[in-house]
Amino acid sequence: MCGIIGYVGKENAVPIIVEGLKKLEYRGYDSAGIAVYSESGFFDVVKQKGRLTALDARLADFPAKGFMGIGHTRWATHGEPSDINSHPHVGNQNKIAVVHNGIIENYKQLKERLEKKGVKFISETDSEVIAQLAEYYYDGNIMETVGKVANRLEGSFALGIMCVDDPGTLIAVKKDNPLIIGVSGHGNFIASDVPAVLKHTNKVYYLDDKEITVLKKDTVQFFNMDKEPLMKSPETITWNPLNAEKGGYPHFMLKEIIEQPKVLRDTISSALSDNENKTVIRRIDITKFNKIVITACGSAYNAGFAAKYVFERLCRFPAVEVELASEFRYRDAVIDDKTLVILISQSGETADTIAAMREAKSGGAVTLSIVNVVGSTIAKEADFCLFTAAGPEIAVATTKAFSAQLVLLYILAVRFADRLGKLPETAGGGTETEDGLLKEIEALPDKAESILEQIDSIQKYASACVGYKSIFFIGRNIDYAIALEGSLKLKEISYIHSEAYAGGELKHGTISLIEENTLVVAISNCKRLHGKLMSNAEQVISRGAKVLLIGNSAGVKPDDKLSVIGLPESCELFSPSLSVIVLQLFSYYVAANKGLDIDKPRNLAKSVTVE
Ligand code: G6P
Repeated sequence: MCGIIGYVGKENAVPIIVEGLKKLEYRGYDSAGIAVYSESGFFDVVKQKGRLTALDARLADFPAKGFMGIGHTRWATHGEPSDINSHPHVGNQNKIAVVHNGIIENYKQLKERLEKKGVKFISETDSEVIAQLAEYYYDGNIMETVGKVANRLEGSFALGIMCVDDPGTLIAVKKDNPLIIGVSGHGNFIASDVPAVLKHTNKVYYLDDKEITVLKKDTVQFFNMDKEPLMKSPETITWNPLNAEKGGYPHFMLKEIIEQPKVLRDTISSALSDNENKTVIRRIDITKFNKIVITACGSAYNAGFAAKYVFERLCRFPAVEVELASEFRYRDAVIDDKTLVILISQSGETADTIAAMREAKSGGAVTLSIVNVVGSTIAKEADFCLFTAAGPEIAVATTKAFSAQLVLLYILAVRFADRLGKLPETAGGGTETEDGLLKEIEALPDKAESILEQIDSIQKYASACVGYKSIFFIGRNIDYAIALEGSLKLKEISYIHSEAYAGGELKHGTISLIEENTLVVAISNCKRLHGKLMSNAEQVISRGAKVLLIGNSAGVKPDDKLSVIGLPESCELFSPSLSVIVLQLFSYYVAANKGLDIDKPRNLAKSVTVE
């Protein structure tokens, strides 16, 4: 969490940094700040609690200007959101300014030692210790100082550092938190993520841990901790800068929901046409494994949970486990070189998923990641990596990246099933061929488009649901997996209490919470379980609930207690890709009708880079 950006170049750094911070606000938004090296030979520092709009307003009263600067948008970990706790932090002597993303685990020890030497701390943050320690070590060479500081810090950090004695030099270093370096014709950048620099350049370097970068207005140099120069090659980002703009939509989330047919098409084609993803899938010999473990966080976990049903059904694999990365990393799981661990992550930087990947590797497992961000830690460190073609996702609540993860997982399951000899040559008796299944997957983007045509009726239904205090989601089998995602989406952005249950579990407790006018969203795509789910619906209706049925509407007669949103006919294994679009739109319009800040829900951040 937290977004950092820095610039050194020929243009005024202030608007460039503020604009970059706006692109990083999804990483944290409880306070923000900026420091520029000004013509007076000092740092101008402006820090403000609240959203970036508040910082913008402060900057209007206090215009700062300079050709080098650093900025930060914060998601508080140590110390409440306040002006003082905001970054950048500057040492007591006003010589060194620092922005930090991560957590310094030994900050208390470092702080105590510095305090004994007379250093006065003014904030409650762990990050301030970096600026104070840097000033303590500083002996005229800022690069050496940064090296010494980085060696003393325990925990995770991505740092941007400036020193008043060196007005044209910006220094960056990282460990276990992302940092990219962007190079452009007018100057050079550091940033937590690509969208922050996309307007200026598509040439970026991805920093590895403990690499120090020295940026000047027309050069960028990389060094290891022994100060030896490193050769690195830039990557060319293919994302269209317009994809990181709202493009006339009221929220990124709505834009990203509507982009899904294209994202599905691009991701499917990336795995079926001749390109990198197809090659990677071919290289994995699934016959060597006896266990698949899928691990991830948040919605990515839900995508993995849905995929478990697909892997089991198609591959008949002896063991397919799904586990939250935050649990897997500490479970001492039984894995070996016959285990394939699949890690799913939009950002490729989620701290728990990175730790799960490292745990899996140290246990001898082979790791395969499904990631949206090229150059991210998980993409680089996993043995194999498949990229989702979702483009930049800005809204905190994921939509299009989730959908892209799902289709890649389906294709993986179909290819694995074929390799394992589990698919018949010809269809029949309820079985599907590889070609037949792939055709079903390729038909999903058109079906997704037809769901988007129902947007007005979904909006109308959702608008009437803003008053609910609690909404339940039920499904069975793969529909249960997608019920989890529907419930998560709703609570993330609408702040309505919500829980998802396997339909059969309702009677084991949750039904006691059903009362007059409780809303239950029932998802039904599994034909053989439709009757059972409808019985669950009847049971809650007879206790006063209202039901919204999403999916199979054959023979269902809507009335004042039962509403229906039908989905296009599809193979039930791949139906989550369709039901999820209705669920995303439902949550979006409930939150929109409550007038909430949908793209930046309270307390959440998109990229959870701390534990
Ligand atoms: C946060 C985001 C979720 C996301 C999860 C995992 O909680 O708000 O949308 O699913 O992190 O993130 P990842 O980048 O690993 O997919």
